[in-house]
Amino acid sequence: MTRYSRIVGTGSALPERLVTNADLVRELAARGIETSEDWIADRTGIQQRYLAAPDVTSSMLGAQAAQAALLSAGVAAADIDLIIVATSTPDFIFPSSACLVQKALGAYGGAAFDVQAVCSGFVYGMATADAMLRTGMARRALVIGAEVFSRILDWNDRGTCVLFGDGAGAVVLAADDSPGILASKLHADGRHESILRTAGSVHSGAVTGHPFLTMDGQAVFKLAVSVLDSVARETVAMAGMAVSDIDWLIPHQANVRILQATGRKLGIAPERVVVTVDRHANTSAASVPLALDTAVRDGRITAGHHVLMEGVGGGFTWGAVLARM
Ligand code: ACO
Repeated sequence: MTRYSRIVGTGSALPERLVTNADLVRELAARGIETSEDWIADRTGIQQRYLAAPDVTSSMLGAQAAQAALLSAGVAAADIDLIIVATSTPDFIFPSSACLVQKALGAYGGAAFDVQAVCSGFVYGMATADAMLRTGMARRALVIGAEVFSRILDWNDRGTCVLFGDGAGAVVLAADDSPGILASKLHADGRHESILRTAGSVHSGAVTGHPFLTMDGQAVFKLAVSVLDSVARETVAMAGMAVSDIDWLIPHQANVRILQATGRKLGIAPERVVVTVDRHANTSAASVPLALDTAVRDGRITAGHHVLMEGVGGGFTWGAVLARM
């Protein structure tokens, strides 16, 4: 019997503090940084973001999203034997955020580890969990994207600090006799590592390098649109399907213009592209599961729908997972 994995529950969590563009423009102006609500909304589609309080960590948001996913799946934490957390803003260098989530859930003994593929992290985590479930290494997995990107932003750099938000999203994946995850494909090209990075590290007790996010926005834009198109086609073809069979496209929520361009290139109608970047801004590894959970809970995505999730981000990394819900 072929074994597959299937999404059986979704959940998400957002920090309490909602910051609208108007709030942010005011806060930045007080620090002498000039921007405008129109610039942010027109260039990015972002209207607001949620920012974590200083004592809130990725693992806390991840555990909260995981609890919501477990509840929607009707699965007990004790039945989870694999936890993968995708994050670039882990609580610590080690232990992993996945181990901290496991502790918070009280689901001890199974495997738990983080994946670091920046904004592609959730898709990388899903592909990894799917492979482990299909080979029988685990039976029920939590795949979580959790970030507090606000911690690695230079709040004096208007070109980047307006783009990101904090949050977490999670899915429960269960081994099943029928799919489920139909295909997944991951890629990376390290030659582009410098266009998007946070090139700081801890060295002998001191922070070295540049511990804030830097980005060549136009290079990222061009590469993102190109690879989101190619990996979508590649993944759909692997499943023996056509792009026209896709009910919902959930690309990484970087920027509304990237989402629109990707949908347009693929010939997917705008109303079939899930967009949450307006509400959440770019939450990196959390953006795809946050958007998935949003569209499941508002009733757009229902059982039997074909959902293509796509990640793209620093590394440069990209990938896609095609799921039948
Ligand atoms: N408010 C006002 N003006 C600003 C701001 C701001 N917040 N930020 C930059 N500007 C100014 C610049 O200083 C520049 O001014 P100048 O012409 O006087 O020098 C002008 O706006 C244009 O700057 P660009 O960086 O060229 O702006 P661009 O049109 O490329 O838009 C953006 C920037 C939105 C980041 C765009 O490049 C983009 O969408 N890139 C895609 C990358 C992305 O979305 N990254 C998110 C993270 S990456 C990921 O998740 C994969």
